[in-house]
Amino acid sequence: MGRPRGGQRERKKEHYYRAAKREGYRSRSAYKLKQIVKKQKLLLGVDRVVELCCSPGGWTQVLKELDSSLQIVAVDLDMMPPLEGVKFIQGDILDEKVIERIESLTGGAVDLVLSDCSPKVTGHWDLDVARQLSLVEGTINIAYRLLGNKGKVLAKVFQGSGFQEFLQSVKKRFNSVKLIKPDASRKTSAEIYLLAIGPRGRNPQESS
Ligand SMILES: C[S@@+](CC[C@H](N)C(=O)[O-])C[C@H]1O[C@@H](n2cnc3c(N)ncnc32)[C@H](O)[C@@H]1O
Repeated sequence: MGRPRGGQRERKKEHYYRAAKREGYRSRSAYKLKQIVKKQKLLLGVDRVVELCCSPGGWTQVLKELDSSLQIVAVDLDMMPPLEGVKFIQGDILDEKVIERIESLTGGAVDLVLSDCSPKVTGHWDLDVARQLSLVEGTINIAYRLLGNKGKVLAKVFQGSGFQEFLQSVKKRFNSVKLIKPDASRKTSAEIYLLAIGPRGRNPQESS
């Protein structure tokens, strides 16, 4: 997904594709997470992680590689080949039963929610963007519910119709919100990563 086209885009895609093959990562996007973690010190103070839309598991590999003690609950519609120490749920992140299952497996307030969701593309740009946005909105709702007070959520979002309104709504619910474009993400692609920290306006007894 990501409408713009061009030679540079193809070269960058190819570069990370080859690197992933060589280094044994299940996805090219593993490099995006690596770069964000390093720059944003994303794993500092993090024990419990919920990873939404995790398959085939490139991000999960990166998490385990950087800190093998992380407690990870990972979810996707598609199966993910197992990774040691990772609790995997196959299901729809927009399904309340799946969210309750995530909640029951985390064992307490979550420090970090990750989300790299993309819907199955239809080829109709507006429809694909709308579907992706509903997955990110679902992500933010799950994060708001499960995160501790200093918790963080990192989510991929496509800058299309509805993006600005979405951004404003996240700013109302979190203390800090920023947008990040890792080098491994093509400059011309519409995708960007949103990092929101510190859910606010909740019942103080909800999470610690
Ligand atoms: C770009 S891939 C994620 C790649 C992953 N970060 C990695 O590094 O391997 C997007 C994923 O979103 C998943 N997905 C899309 N809609 C979903 C939904 N409603 N619930 C759960 N997963 C979903 C797809 O099945 C797909 O595996």
